[in-house]
Amino acid sequence: MTKTMAEIGSTHGPAVSFTTQRTSSASIATQSRWLPAEGGHASGPHISAVAVEKAYRKGQHKVAVLRGVNINVRRGEFLSIIGQSGSGKSTLLHLLGLLDCPDIGEVLLEGQRMDDLPVRTRDQLRNRVFGFIFQFYHLLPELSLLENVLAPLMIRYSAWEFWKRRREFRDRASEILHLVGLDHRLKHRPSEMSGGEMQRAAIARALVARPEILLADEPTGNLDARTGQEITELLASLNEREQLTILMVTHDDAIAQQAHRIVRLSEGQIEAVAAAA
Ligand SMILES: Nc1ncnc2c1ncn2[C@@H]1O[C@H](COP(=O)(O)OP(=O)(O)OP(=O)(O)O)[C@@H](O)[C@H]1O
Ligand SMILES: [Mg+2]
Repeated sequence: MTKTMAEIGSTHGPAVSFTTQRTSSASIATQSRWLPAEGGHASGPHISAVAVEKAYRKGQHKVAVLRGVNINVRRGEFLSIIGQSGSGKSTLLHLLGLLDCPDIGEVLLEGQRMDDLPVRTRDQLRNRVFGFIFQFYHLLPELSLLENVLAPLMIRYSAWEFWKRRREFRDRASEILHLVGLDHRLKHRPSEMSGGEMQRAAIARALVARPEILLADEPTGNLDARTGQEITELLASLNEREQLTILMVTHDDAIAQQAHRIVRLSEGQIEAVAAAA
């Protein structure tokens, strides 16, 4: 039996198998977990940027990085963002993931503006809605693989709540590690793992709090071509199985092609590239 991410942790059934089988949409939460029902726009974009501008100060000068970015990403879409180094790809991902705020413009989740919410609300939203994956994994070296994957839940819940639910969380983390093919490594530290394994671990960590949207910044940038392809296939599979919305920044054309759609950041704006194969 194959379980969805939404189901992982809710039962104690057999461990999931990693397949590309599409699951029924009925088993996947299609409503936002935090907005009131009437706030959701099932047919509208999942996440959007509207006329977003961002500049950084460099010495005396202000350098405009994003100059009116407009983008709509559907729920369940897998989008690749390409562009030259310094074009603002990471900046855009940080704005969409509420790690930073635009100077001008809006960031919307299911049509609701997020960027102007109080800091605390944005922090809570970020923890609930987004999972992040970075080029250099950012695993904590002193923690085991299992502890690294559990870390977002330790941050999200109080010490008491985490302790009460520790068995459930541990089972959930173990099942997600099985999903990414790392269940034989639970006690290993990051220094004992390969680059591909560390990125799988980072994906598991990003998924453990059941995000709606995965933001991946050069997730294959530090991996050889074959391992990079495997990681991208894993992301594509998660996107298909879980209807997880994925925004992936990459320099690599072959990797970008794995997505449903490719856009390029150029001159501070988004341009369509082509529908990927
Ligand atoms: N916190 C910051 N303070 C000042 N300048 C910044 C900051 N973050 C980014 N920049 C500048 O903004 C521009 C865009 O940076 P960004 O990291 O978004 O580019 P990128 O497209 O992700 O590049 P790369 O492909 O090399 O990762 C760069 O010129 C960078 O130096
Ligand atoms: Mg970058």
